[in-house]
Amino acid sequence: MAILDKHKILETNATLLLVFSFLVVTIGGIVQIAPLFWLENTIEDVEGMRPYTPLELAGRDIYLREGCYVCHSQMIRPMRDEVERYGHYSLAAESQYDHPFQWGSKRTGPDLARVGGRYSDDWHVDHLIDPQSVVPESIMPKYGYLTNKQVDGKHIGDLMRTQSYVGVPYTDEMIVNAQLDFNAQADPDLDYDGLLERYGEDSVNVRNFDGRHGTSEMDALVAYLQMLGTLVDFSTFTPDASR
Ligand code: HEC
Repeated sequence: MAILDKHKILETNATLLLVFSFLVVTIGGIVQIAPLFWLENTIEDVEGMRPYTPLELAGRDIYLREGCYVCHSQMIRPMRDEVERYGHYSLAAESQYDHPFQWGSKRTGPDLARVGGRYSDDWHVDHLIDPQSVVPESIMPKYGYLTNKQVDGKHIGDLMRTQSYVGVPYTDEMIVNAQLDFNAQADPDLDYDGLLERYGEDSVNVRNFDGRHGTSEMDALVAYLQMLGTLVDFSTFTPDASR
């Protein structure tokens, strides 16, 4: 009974109740927030994740410039319909090198988080030049001009350095060789191994993506699209919680 009486004092005294409520909320807040100052990383490390190659990073920049994110998300939510359509739900690690992230909040078109490898390069090029030629009912705009504009990768090293300031683990070697790596990814005829040594043999596509002479914005954009969602091997992945 005694404890109920004491509680009654609290309940009938507004000031006291306010003070105690504040105390309880403060303790709850500290318990939630304080550990974040000591944890090095709140993102679970996942095998296979690597920073974007210079050409992919340039493609990602074009993706941002063209506003593709206005119609496309890159975030598969853990709901049955999404997982059945797109594949394993998105992991925090998959966007840890995205500055800014591309989760998006609007899906006029399909989610693109796992679009890499789903179609051929030719399909992407045809689709970007004239979406209706591939998907007649499509309302996606045409991006054919990307094939006409060449990119030289001159400033991509600077962009990588900027990204490294916000935590993307680009090494000095990657930054110094950015231009070489950039040229090599869209030109399989160059006899050059540096790119694969730095970014991984299995996860980098080296191709003439748009099938045309030179390196165009189309090459960069398709290189980016073709790697989306391909880095993590979900046939072997098990989330930490279920281990
Ligand atoms: C006005 C909205 C809109 C914009 C902007 C847009 N898209 Fe789309 N996109 C769509 C729609 C709708 C579809 C589905 C029909 C189709 O395949 O064309 C689509 C489909 C796609 C697909 C095929 C996805 C799949 O799984 O079948 C890719 C890849 C794609 N878009 C890439 C892009 C890129 C890259 C950009 C920017 C250069 C872009 N989109 C801009 C609306 C848009």
